[in-house]
Amino acid sequence: MTQPTNSLLTHLECATCGRKHPISKLNTVCETEDCKAILLAQYDFNSNVLLKADLKARPASAWRYKEFLPVHDERNIVSLGEGFTAVLTVSNLQQHTAGKRVLIKDESSNPTGSFKARGLSIAVSKAKELGVKEFVIPTAGNAGGALAAYAAKAGLKAHIFMPKLTPQAFKDEARLFGAELTEVDGNISDCGKLANAQAAENGWFDISTLKEPYRLEGKKTMGYEIAEQLGWTVPDVILYPTGGGTGIIGIWKAFDELEQLGWIGSKRPHMVAVQSDSCNGIHLAFQNGETSSAFKDSGHTVANGLRVPKPYADKVILKVLRDSQGNTVSVSDAAILSALRELAACEGLLAAPEGAALWHAYKELNRSGGIKDGETVLLLNTGSAYKYLDNIR
Ligand SMILES: Cc1ncc(COP(=O)(O)O)c(C=O)c1O
Ligand SMILES: [Zn+2]
Repeated sequence: MTQPTNSLLTHLECATCGRKHPISKLNTVCETEDCKAILLAQYDFNSNVLLKADLKARPASAWRYKEFLPVHDERNIVSLGEGFTAVLTVSNLQQHTAGKRVLIKDESSNPTGSFKARGLSIAVSKAKELGVKEFVIPTAGNAGGALAAYAAKAGLKAHIFMPKLTPQAFKDEARLFGAELTEVDGNISDCGKLANAQAAENGWFDISTLKEPYRLEGKKTMGYEIAEQLGWTVPDVILYPTGGGTGIIGIWKAFDELEQLGWIGSKRPHMVAVQSDSCNGIHLAFQNGETSSAFKDSGHTVANGLRVPKPYADKVILKVLRDSQGNTVSVSDAAILSALRELAACEGLLAAPEGAALWHAYKELNRSGGIKDGETVLLLNTGSAYKYLDNIR
């Protein structure tokens, strides 16, 4: 006997060529030769099975939106309590926030301490539904820990490729969750190549971000929550720390879906991609008016998750930034660490370096007149600093 989730998932559609792919099989990227772009999950938003008011009785979890998530049988849901994270107000740094409402959605309270829990809860659940037994992932740290935890909960096997220069806590947690960890002398692109080769050789499922369609669906729940927690409105500006860019694409997709549902109107936030000076290919491309980014890697950054030399979905990220009349900011490691200390000492929040970068970026935008009086700005603190103490000491 199945226990239906009432998921309204209908098919997958290529973000570039529009080709439709069936949901009955394990999908990766678009199968059109020379395309290979990301696949976007599509739902039947016309069948009105869920009302906004029904959400009040739902658990405080990312799965509260299960009709708009891809899993069909409740028994396949692998959950550790991810999502519905707090939205905090920056209240003690008024020299920077006067006239504005500055909010931080604090993803550090997720299982394994980061927003990666959302994507991996949904993707591991769907892969389990489709019969996957072993996963492989390249990771800057947080995604590997999250995969390891959800695979452990599902009783499945995880193989992790992580740069050697990642703080020790990320390695320890992966091993404690029972994953097989390989430390790689290189960056996440090098890890990605190894993961891909091992997937082909051993028949493991490569759950790299945006190389399969459902981690994006997990990240999308941040957008649903932002709208719900702000009373079905959207902020004027959203800042997002951009590595692979899954969150920026997912949040944008969420707002589009919520409009189709009639739950929000047509207003959209300006989306701001924040990067580290070490890996700022999206920033450079956006500022130069380009539609794709070049490979850019100047080495280690304290914000390990931002060391992505060339995001797989660079064209889609840049399109979201353009469509939202958004912006980009690139931040140095020194500025990231100083912002991290300021948020910790003044707001009681030990943000991950990736999240702390947003505080610096916000101040820079505010100083240059990029944020107007009366505007609501939302920063996504994507993780916790506890695992990064090696970088911060
Ligand atoms: C804490 C944190 N923030 C941001 C990112 C970048 O996320 P995305 O790949 O969605 O751009 C990562 C990726 O590892 C991360 O761990
Ligand atoms: Zn395609």
